Amino acid sequence: MQLLKERIRKDGKIMAGNVLKVDSFLNHQMDTELFQEIGKEFRRRFADVQVNKILTIEASGIGIACVVAQSFHVPVVFAKKTKTKNIAGDVYTSKVESYTHGRVYDIIVSKEFLGKGDKVLLVDDFLANGKALEGLAALVEESGAELAGAGIVIEKGFQVGGNLIRSRGIRLESLAIVESMDEKTGTIVFRGDEA
Ligand code: G4P
Repeated sequence: MQLLKERIRKDGKIMAGNVLKVDSFLNHQMDTELFQEIGKEFRRRFADVQVNKILTIEASGIGIACVVAQSFHVPVVFAKKTKTKNIAGDVYTSKVESYTHGRVYDIIVSKEFLGKGDKVLLVDDFLANGKALEGLAALVEESGAELAGAGIVIEKGFQVGGNLIRSRGIRLESLAIVESMDEKTGTIVFRGDEA
């Protein structure tokens, strides 16, 4: 998505450790006009699949998922991160390992909001190692719902997440795939740019 790539080049900041900071428009301050365009783009890319629910994970996926959900005219559900497992059995639960933060947490979704008959599109802002997306896919599987695909705003193509998710047969659409970034020169190469 050209508009997004231009915005990343203009306002993204490359930090140490291959971290791309985009908090002026994506995951702290949020540019809702850009979000509208992102919502339309996902709608276009997933035009051939049926979706009746968007599923994301807190925290920074929620904003973008809400706007994507509007363009599909469906509700959005977010998985909550929790340290304590709910033992009442009224939630689906899965484990997510965060390399970046060096911890494991449980994610939960109430059984009230996900189940058999649902056709679910996963949405998140970043795809790095793919653990969050794997966790969400596991919740969908546990619920008996159908996984329609996954929409990611920025995929870090040099980390394992994209390959992991695609190798599981999940239809993944990433609007910008960063192949490499250079902290010193500020250069960002996107997949598709090389040709
Ligand atoms: P994974 O979910 O793909 O396995 O990613 P990983 O554990 O490596 O990343 C942990 C968190 O850092 C995730 O957010 C992910 O979205 C975010 N992240 C990874 N790489 C970058 C990056 O280059 N730039 C930015 N801005 N974020 C990155 P989180 O902690 O799970 O959630 P949230 O509460 O921040 O939404």
